[in-house]
Amino acid sequence: MGAVGETEVSESQIAVHWREEDYYEPPPKLIDQANANDPAIRERFSEEHFPDCFTEYAELLTWDRKWDTILDTSNPPFWKWWIGGRLNACVNCVDRHLEARGNKNAFIWVPELEDQETKEITYEELHRRINEFAALLRDFAGAQTGDRVTFHMPMVPELPVSMLACARMGVIHSQVFGGFSGAACGNRIVDSQSKILVTMDAYYRDGQLLDHKLKADEALEVASNQGVEIEKVLVWRRQPGEYHSESPMVDGRDFFVDELLEDYRGQQVEPESMPAEAPLFLMYSSGTTGQPKGAEHSTGGYLSYVAGTSKYYQDIHPDDTYWCFADIGWITGHSYIVYGPLALGTTSVMYEGVPTYPDPGRPWRIAEKLGVNIFHTAPTTIRMLRKVGPDEPAKYDYHFKTMTTVGEPIEPDVWRWYYHTVGKEEAAITDTWWLTETGGFLGSTLPALEKMKPGSCGPGVLGINLVIYDENGEEVQKGSGKAGNICVRNPWPGLMQTIWGDDDRYVATYFAKYCRDKQSQDWHDWPWLCGDGAVQAADGYYRILGRIDDVINVAGHRLGTKELESAAIQVEEVAETAAVPVIDELRGKVVEMYVALKPGFEPSDEIVQKVSQIIERDIGKIARPKNVWIVPDMPKTRSGKIMRRVIAGISNFADVGDVSTLANPEIVDEIREQVQSAKVARGDVPRELSPEEMEEIKAFGRVE
Ligand code: PRX
Repeated sequence: MGAVGETEVSESQIAVHWREEDYYEPPPKLIDQANANDPAIRERFSEEHFPDCFTEYAELLTWDRKWDTILDTSNPPFWKWWIGGRLNACVNCVDRHLEARGNKNAFIWVPELEDQETKEITYEELHRRINEFAALLRDFAGAQTGDRVTFHMPMVPELPVSMLACARMGVIHSQVFGGFSGAACGNRIVDSQSKILVTMDAYYRDGQLLDHKLKADEALEVASNQGVEIEKVLVWRRQPGEYHSESPMVDGRDFFVDELLEDYRGQQVEPESMPAEAPLFLMYSSGTTGQPKGAEHSTGGYLSYVAGTSKYYQDIHPDDTYWCFADIGWITGHSYIVYGPLALGTTSVMYEGVPTYPDPGRPWRIAEKLGVNIFHTAPTTIRMLRKVGPDEPAKYDYHFKTMTTVGEPIEPDVWRWYYHTVGKEEAAITDTWWLTETGGFLGSTLPALEKMKPGSCGPGVLGINLVIYDENGEEVQKGSGKAGNICVRNPWPGLMQTIWGDDDRYVATYFAKYCRDKQSQDWHDWPWLCGDGAVQAADGYYRILGRIDDVINVAGHRLGTKELESAAIQVEEVAETAAVPVIDELRGKVVEMYVALKPGFEPSDEIVQKVSQIIERDIGKIARPKNVWIVPDMPKTRSGKIMRRVIAGISNFADVGDVSTLANPEIVDEIREQVQSAKVARGDVPRELSPEEMEEIKAFGRVE
């Protein structure tokens, strides 16, 4: 127990020091045309109308057979939605738009090289390509309803074509993020027991043509060593007819899709009418150690939820040009590049490459050229663009009505740049908080109805009733200034069905902590644990403080990494920050800060001092970092999340674990050399960690 700044905290609480921010009003222009502009919508989705409220989402879809039961709770906590209903996800995303919008673009694909041609794919063309690939999958590769097919694909239109071809046949797709290693792909093949791998020869990233097929060879070897043999590797070529990989094609196993497709021209595959509860896809999420964790998402529940949230929270209309600048290899891309936008019949932009190629004006040129009016990306991209091109957006003539941020808490400072500079003060920002497991948004403001507050995601979204519990399961009241474990009180259609092949792990991970009665068929007894620390302000808005695993416990004070990072990023020269724990004899653990600077600034003691001082000012003496390391860059995943466990490993002279899935693995050695040699010179080498401490450091941060 003790005081941190003004706040008294106990061992089990996370200290909260964040200042309240001012509100921003929804832009008036947005309101008239918005899908959700009637305040009564909140009432329609109130707890009293649960679960019926979600029929509003289900009715956005076309059903082969309507459901008999909205929500079945007979096998807790494996909730089932739309029981008795049948539908096909591909039909909902493509076929049903053909009549009215067949000539409209479903996707606009922008290759990374600016002199290569942007490709427009109409709903009609998409339909044709999906059918041909589905025929190939079925007749050549032998895929059948219920099978799993693994994809390891970059950001090319062939990825959604492949996904929707599977959806058409009721085949369960499992896309592994293209930037992941062959080994990571192999482990996911094993877990899902796939017999088919769909991949590509090569793709562009940061101006380089990367050899991708090589990873397939590693994936197959890793899978084979664990007893799972891939029978067919289907290799798309980025340029049909040209092969850009060093990897040999293995006779009888590896096939070029463009060659095979010649035999399937014009073929149609009858869509499979799937039960609402049939799995649509697997999405492997983090899990820092052990088995990869495959979130299983359903057809009817998932699709209804992403269609509904796309409509009300992204404010997508069929005539919009919507750009979600994320990768389809993570859930954001599945829900909000492919399934949600296409279910609504809009035009979804896909971009192959990195934000800053060939210069930091690129995203804004794309927005201007294509007339993008809805923009969606992650704080890491926003920070990067602010770092290297703070004045670029003003040079381009584009106009956004809504802008989304997703994936991690956004520092208020960065939020304001997004609002003023990127959004030109014309766009509503939705800060959408959710998880791979949740299918779609959990927390956000409704863009035309609810005020924004930088750094807070807002209230629970429609039909999502959130609650914060302390360690003892007591509800933490709003406005109390106390943080705790945020949970969802009720089931919702987008929630994953289970962890693929591991029901027990599903219950243990998400329900065990706060379940009131394991036998109960009443969903009220089964709050869903998100794993994030959060605080609810008096106005009902939630601030997400980051993963509970990321909390740094300094002498009993639990400090949220995001608070430390948000404080440090206020220093003018600082572009990115990461807070990690380092073992300390005296206080158990102390904080170390890593910062990367904006271009044009050189590391200096003055910056180090400023970072320390601002943390001390905003959070308290207890949080004063033991060291501030100014590094050239942070180790990041390809989805842009900072791998805090890697930095924590370096600071503690511990094993950094597997870094093969990093976007920039080379930075690890560079930082290690810098930090550890400085520590050795200062005589500041921590004692060897105990096995428990080692595990804790390894588990620090959620991302792989
Ligand atoms: O800690 C939360 C953070 O990201 C975690 C989920 O990670 P992942 O499953 O990779 O994300 C999938 C797409 C959302 C959450 O537990 N997170 C996500 N969005 C936000 C966020 N934290 C704060 N604000 C957000 N908007």
